[in-house]
Amino acid sequence: MSLESLVWPKDLIDLDQLTAEHIHATLDVAETFREVSEREIKKVPTLRGKLVVLFFHENSTRTRLSFEVAAKRLSADTTALSASGSSMAKGETLLDTARNIMAMNPDALVMRHAASGASSFLGQRLACPVLNAGDGAHAHPTQALLDLMTIRRLKGRVAGLKVAIIGDLAHSRVARSNMIGLTRLGAKVAVAGPPSMLVGGLAEEYGVSVHTRPEPAVEGADAVIMLRIQLERQSGRLFPGAREYARVYGLNLERLALAKPDCLVLHPGPVNQGVEMTPEVYDHPRSVILEQVTNGVAVRMALLYLLIDNAERRTPAERS
Ligand code: NCD
Repeated sequence: MSLESLVWPKDLIDLDQLTAEHIHATLDVAETFREVSEREIKKVPTLRGKLVVLFFHENSTRTRLSFEVAAKRLSADTTALSASGSSMAKGETLLDTARNIMAMNPDALVMRHAASGASSFLGQRLACPVLNAGDGAHAHPTQALLDLMTIRRLKGRVAGLKVAIIGDLAHSRVARSNMIGLTRLGAKVAVAGPPSMLVGGLAEEYGVSVHTRPEPAVEGADAVIMLRIQLERQSGRLFPGAREYARVYGLNLERLALAKPDCLVLHPGPVNQGVEMTPEVYDHPRSVILEQVTNGVAVRMALLYLLIDNAERRTPAERS
């Protein structure tokens, strides 16, 4: 199916909105944009004159930076708004802030928020595309797409691969979006985490196998995605301590040896060093954590381009 014949959603809230064709098409566009980042002049005029608003209502360094670099490499103007420096600290509601942003007529809004559903809420009310950059424990579609890009480009495919996702599955938006994206592209997904960090229904809802120990998930894996322990989203202590977690669930060389010899190690960052993985694994030649960061810019360039272009093609009736 050609790129032109695909119908895109107005907003990107989660990967359940995209078919396997959409995902592959996004990654194909991202591959062409990745090449731009390797040029001496790292800029194309694709989004010249467009305004991308970065609305980060929750801490973020790499995702925000990545979107900003992506927008700039496409020649768009960017402006950033964070909760602490905005009138939200003075009690303005999310919708009021959004209306004010809209009055500046942006071409896309990139949004991160601690509340699940916040980007969908704004997407339904704003005329421009809204790209979810992480909403609570719900979804993080651009992270999952950059993970898919990293696996696809280094393995040549995603279908038929075994991918393990290990850690705090109950609180991880990265895990949720990845389970959707990976299974949609035909990977076999095995998840593992302490029972206190697993939620019921994962197997039924996402078609993944669920384990309470990492070994069966890592065994024979082509890629392992380690998740950060989401301390800010845990209401109580879900494990005895970081050392205990590292001992039972952390990725060390011994556990990595259970995977295929060319297994990739991924982590969305920021890594709690020595907890989710040992320094030897972090620095291992098969660790592709920085490759993920590079691919993240390309994937976000692709999405900004595709959704802004899509918004321009929609008829006025569709837009209202
Ligand atoms: C992830 C996030 O914020 O959800 N990080 C990121 O986007 N770079 C993962 C995490 O914080 O654990």
